[in-house]
Amino acid sequence: MATIKSEAIQSLILQTLSSEETISDSRQLALEGKSLSSTEDQNVIRGVLDSLSSKEMVEYKQITTTSYILTEEGKLIDEKGSHEIRVWQVLPVKGKGEPITVPELQKLVGPGIAKVGQSRAFKNKWIAKDGNGFVRSAEAPVDETAIQLREIREKGDHTSGESVTKELQKRKLIAPKKHIHYSISKGANFSTEVKQLETDLTVEMLQSGAWKDSSFKQYNFAAAGQPTDGGALHPLLKVREEFRNIFFEMGFTEMPTNRFVESAFWNFDAMFVPQQHPAREMQDTFYVKNPVKSLQPEPEYYERIRKVHEEGGYGSIGYRAPFSREESEKLLLRTHTTAISTAMLYELANQKGGFKPAKMYSIDRVFRNETADATHLAEFHQVEGVVADYNITLGNLIAFMQEFFGKTGNTKLRFKPAYNPYTEPSMEVFSWHEGLGKWIEIANSGIFRPEMLEPMGLPKGVRVLGWGMSLERPTMIKYKISDIRTLVGHKTDLDQVKKRAAVRLEKGDD
Ligand code: PHE
Repeated sequence: MATIKSEAIQSLILQTLSSEETISDSRQLALEGKSLSSTEDQNVIRGVLDSLSSKEMVEYKQITTTSYILTEEGKLIDEKGSHEIRVWQVLPVKGKGEPITVPELQKLVGPGIAKVGQSRAFKNKWIAKDGNGFVRSAEAPVDETAIQLREIREKGDHTSGESVTKELQKRKLIAPKKHIHYSISKGANFSTEVKQLETDLTVEMLQSGAWKDSSFKQYNFAAAGQPTDGGALHPLLKVREEFRNIFFEMGFTEMPTNRFVESAFWNFDAMFVPQQHPAREMQDTFYVKNPVKSLQPEPEYYERIRKVHEEGGYGSIGYRAPFSREESEKLLLRTHTTAISTAMLYELANQKGGFKPAKMYSIDRVFRNETADATHLAEFHQVEGVVADYNITLGNLIAFMQEFFGKTGNTKLRFKPAYNPYTEPSMEVFSWHEGLGKWIEIANSGIFRPEMLEPMGLPKGVRVLGWGMSLERPTMIKYKISDIRTLVGHKTDLDQVKKRAAVRLEKGDD
């Protein structure tokens, strides 16, 4: 960050180099008469030097030096003289007064100073024994230690160098202090003006020739690189995983839904959807052009389906409308995953060893001929569960959905009678959305009709319940996405896909 001070320091360094070639010690620099030798100022200088050297305008070396400061004891000696001089000062000149005894000396200068001072003064021959006490034996001793300390206080070091500083350090009168400063010289691109360096070679520079006169910033090979682009799960896949786990928890197995192209027979006929139903029209369903048809149903099953449509049976009067094989054979993009559930129920009825109760689910893609808008696309995913067992009732269906949706955080449910050609009764499921403050439709459900189940060969007492919903809707609610086209398709923001966190359905919607 360029502050006013660092800018001033920058121009000071450049001006000084321009007139003097080198700066041997950055502590000599001064701004408006004020020294820049403090640690803080040297740090600012370091920042300026880094910036200038990245442009190769200067070169610099770091210099580490040590200076000395006085310890508390050192300061005391600097002020009042050494212990030995203080002892000498309180003693009488020989013959001009009573010699001072050790206890008296301790009282006069304090026991610590007395002990050290007396022995050093004795060694220096400044004092001598006289009877029971001490007297002066030198006239005007020079207090070497105090003089050394004064010089260190003033200059940070002693002219005699290590012989003195080592000794004073040992006596704990001074302590070392490290300093970092710099020696500076001109760099290859030295100039007193700082040019803005180019960081990129652009097409425009190449075309105009401006690159020839441009200065480029050096590569910084030590810089951390761009974060690498990892893969990310699409929000739909994250929500799918949550639903999957709920189904597994409840003992469901997954149905094989890898069959986007389906025959009208499995998608509609086998489910007792009349061949005249409007959902079958081209405006609602995508039909396949090539190949246009394909179907090898088990002939007796096909015949039972035809019969229940045209004539009825199993307690039903049927649709009593023409039923065409050509219509059954048409290929289409499946409009619901219930086509797969139907084929699986047929297998369940005809498997080796006969029917066994089952709980099955699927989550996969379906297609409808819709005009895309904020809430519709021509393709979406369905989440679907079916349960086949003896003596299933509407109460079981409601209980199942309360358990299932409870695990997705939807604890307040309402059921509304509805209509599906293949279920009776049928119910729409609504859930109270706390954040939106209203009931929202979350699923379609029902108990499959006998006209669908009995031709398959399922035992009489077997009932099958089921429910289905889209995967997109709960995903949009969870991630607060208002336009489905920003979730799937070319308007999807890949950055958002990467950033969106995993969801926890059981936490409910906020
Ligand atoms: N197939 C229904 C739909 O597309 C969902 C459903 C599945 C309804 C099973 C009842 C039973 O909405």
